[in-house]
Amino acid sequence: MRSVILGSGSALPRRVVSNAELAEKVDTSDEWIVERTGIRQRYIADETETTATLGTDAAKKALEAAGMAAEQIDLIVVATATPDNTFPATATKIQALLGIDDCIAFDVAAVCTGFLYALSVADSMLRGGNAKRALVIGAETFSRILDWEDRTTCVLFGDGAGAIVLEAQDNDAGILTTKLHAQGKHNNLLYVDGGPSTTQTVGHLRMKGREVFRHAVVNLAEVLEETLAEVGLSNSDIDWVVPHQANQRILDATAKKLGLPPEKVIITVDQHANTSAASVPLAFDLAVRDGRIKRGDLVIMEAMGGGLTWGAAALRY
Ligand code: UT7
Repeated sequence: MRSVILGSGSALPRRVVSNAELAEKVDTSDEWIVERTGIRQRYIADETETTATLGTDAAKKALEAAGMAAEQIDLIVVATATPDNTFPATATKIQALLGIDDCIAFDVAAVCTGFLYALSVADSMLRGGNAKRALVIGAETFSRILDWEDRTTCVLFGDGAGAIVLEAQDNDAGILTTKLHAQGKHNNLLYVDGGPSTTQTVGHLRMKGREVFRHAVVNLAEVLEETLAEVGLSNSDIDWVVPHQANQRILDATAKKLGLPPEKVIITVDQHANTSAASVPLAFDLAVRDGRIKRGDLVIMEAMGGGLTWGAAALRY
């Protein structure tokens, strides 16, 4: 049994915010942001757009691409660090917005690695027979937890959502493996300084960027090697890498470390900035829709984020 991707979809807020627009509010410049991160713009949710509405829009497009009706879904896993509410799970809000009467629905919190964790959990549940068809969604509104006076973080993130439909099939294609890691001893490098059990506030994102960067390059190269070894493939077998989009320099350094040509790496960080758990499914959907990722291609997904958490997946699309 394999979990096969039947379709994908994505959604972005209506409003685009350029680097120049941010430079009017904080002490930064288009030049600094582009040179240090590769980011040129980001999408920011307005008051009518939330993690659940963006996730629902992405899910509807994924269902349409899969040729499936919402009622056929029996599992929804949403990766998010910015839920609409502390509870209920955003997955149940999306379930209601999709008009699904009864299915398994829950959220997974692994910040920027969230989509890889959600994919791994959904894949296990499908192969274990708990469900047959799953919606796996990464959806975020990081704009709501940014300190808009902190130039070291507020320029880096954006909002958005991506989704895939998975079906358990007797098939050689599909998710080949997922590899997940966490090292909680580093949770002070990237965190939110609030929460229901501590401050009773939502809090703001705080990051020691340079240290996270250092861990990212090492951990991502390691987990990619681990993932390829698990499925008995080498770098030259990879058709596409769909990485978490935090920083163009991390993408370049990881590709270089693995000896991968940059043309094989799907890049959206310039347009979307860092959308946390949404970035991998957003980039995947973009590359499927523009015809780069084709049926039969070997695709590697990877991500790293707060926790610290990191992981990767190998799949035959
Ligand atoms: O998605 C989860 C994973 N997250 C990541 O992977 C993020 C990893 N980290 C990074 O991408 C980079 O570390 C950053 C983009 C966050 C920062 O880039 P950096 O090259 O590591 O810069 P830095 O933090 O070392 O800062 C260099 C200088 C500092 O000034 P001084 O102390 O040298 O005078 C900062 O104050 O740049 C300054 N700076 C800025 N200047 C203009 C920091 N942010 C800005 C800004 N505009 N927005």
